[in-house]
Amino acid sequence: FLASLAALESPATAPAPHRVQSRPTETLVARTTGFANEPDTDPALAANRTWGSEILARVPGSTQGVDTIGEARVESEVALDSIVDDAVSAAPGWAALGGAGRAAILRRAAVELGARRAALIEVAASETGKTLAEGDVEVSEAVDFANYYASLAEELDHVDGAVYTAPTLVVVTPPWNFPVAIPTGSTVAALAAGASVVIKPAGQAKRCGAVLVEALWAAGVPRDVLKLVDVDEGDLGKRLVSHPAVDRVILTGAFETAELFRSWRPDLPLLAETSGKNAIVVTPSADLDLAASDLIKSAFGHAGQKCSAASLGILVGSVATSERFRRQLVDAASTMRVGLPSDPTTQMGPIVEPAAGKLHWALTELDPGESWLVKPRQLDETGRLWSPGIRVGIAPGSRFHRTEFFGPVLGLMAASSLDEAIDLQNATDFGLTAGLHTLDRVELATWLDRVEAGNLYVNRGITGAIVRRQPFGGWKRSAVGAGSKAGGPDYLVHLGSWAPAALAP
Ligand code: ALA
Repeated sequence: FLASLAALESPATAPAPHRVQSRPTETLVARTTGFANEPDTDPALAANRTWGSEILARVPGSTQGVDTIGEARVESEVALDSIVDDAVSAAPGWAALGGAGRAAILRRAAVELGARRAALIEVAASETGKTLAEGDVEVSEAVDFANYYASLAEELDHVDGAVYTAPTLVVVTPPWNFPVAIPTGSTVAALAAGASVVIKPAGQAKRCGAVLVEALWAAGVPRDVLKLVDVDEGDLGKRLVSHPAVDRVILTGAFETAELFRSWRPDLPLLAETSGKNAIVVTPSADLDLAASDLIKSAFGHAGQKCSAASLGILVGSVATSERFRRQLVDAASTMRVGLPSDPTTQMGPIVEPAAGKLHWALTELDPGESWLVKPRQLDETGRLWSPGIRVGIAPGSRFHRTEFFGPVLGLMAASSLDEAIDLQNATDFGLTAGLHTLDRVELATWLDRVEAGNLYVNRGITGAIVRRQPFGGWKRSAVGAGSKAGGPDYLVHLGSWAPAALAP
């Protein structure tokens, strides 16, 4: 924890990429030993399958968000300012509960979120096309965030030699692709730190936001301390983000959105996890069956719409020419059951918006030298159901190599050596997740030394970071602002401000 404080001596904005992230001190790990990750629902149990079918029966046959979420709708600047004022006024009372007081409420919030597991899975499926299994892990992660940040809030009461000042007001602007876990994580982090929160859910996932906020209110978070606002992303969204009373904005979204926010308020204290263009490197020493399976899961989970998804497989030496490996990828992609989440047999759901722009290009067009190993097919008129695609022959520096597009297309590149593969993996503007499949320790050491990404995974898929075990955050253009990692020990540290005890008033 104190190591995290030392890291604060660097400016809160645009830190130079640093290879070694702050790590939990032994003290912190000891104090959070009470924390345990929430288990997902086990589909091997018949009762759980019945429970799941009942949820799916309530999911509509088409996936769409809603226009407004009732009372949370805000139409005027006056109304928005009054919400901000109320949240600011409520903050001192919340902060005065102390870390332990807030932690008790957040642990109740974890219980309330768990009690709404079915409702959250249902709205995530209805609004964003998440399958039951994908929604289920999000609820577990949301519960984890509440329990984990509760433990860290308690830590705030035990720091010697420094005085922590909580932020007064944090605005949370989450994405639609993890419509439960990420808004919950950002919100409970700010609450744990002692701030009031105004959350504006993503336009495509407003009901998810409403359900999770209700859970936190039911747990005892005062309604003025946590405000849900449904504002359009135009003038009122701009007003909210750039409001002078806002101490921090926690954004998860595109790098361009972070830049837009900064253009509205250049001094905006932003804590942002932004875009990614992630690759898994596979070397000839790897367990290729495992590598194929992890590539497929990482590329096509939630139809490739995770910021952490694998967009590229970089195949070293003989892996690039292995007919068997290629056949495994083709078979897996072309037999994947694509459909709506209301159908329990669906393995890959729809994309959240009809394919357009960069995604439409990635699904339909090839650049010189590229060809389809598996060609994506549009499966319905809405433009939202596509079968997964795999393209080969991606040239270094090409459009596909460098562009984030958020959809179910995996590109394969060939490299003659591990070093060349790492160069290709690093040669994007982003650095969110990165994977390596190898059974060779020297290769592993080389890769760890050179790869540039916030989250590194070895012999595993590159999505689905687990709270506390794999704190999640990016490097290069995948992070803007303080650059701390969600679900990790320094996240609250970066939300507030610190002074040495001797200087504190
Ligand atoms: N935390 C999410 C993942 O790891 C983005 O996939």
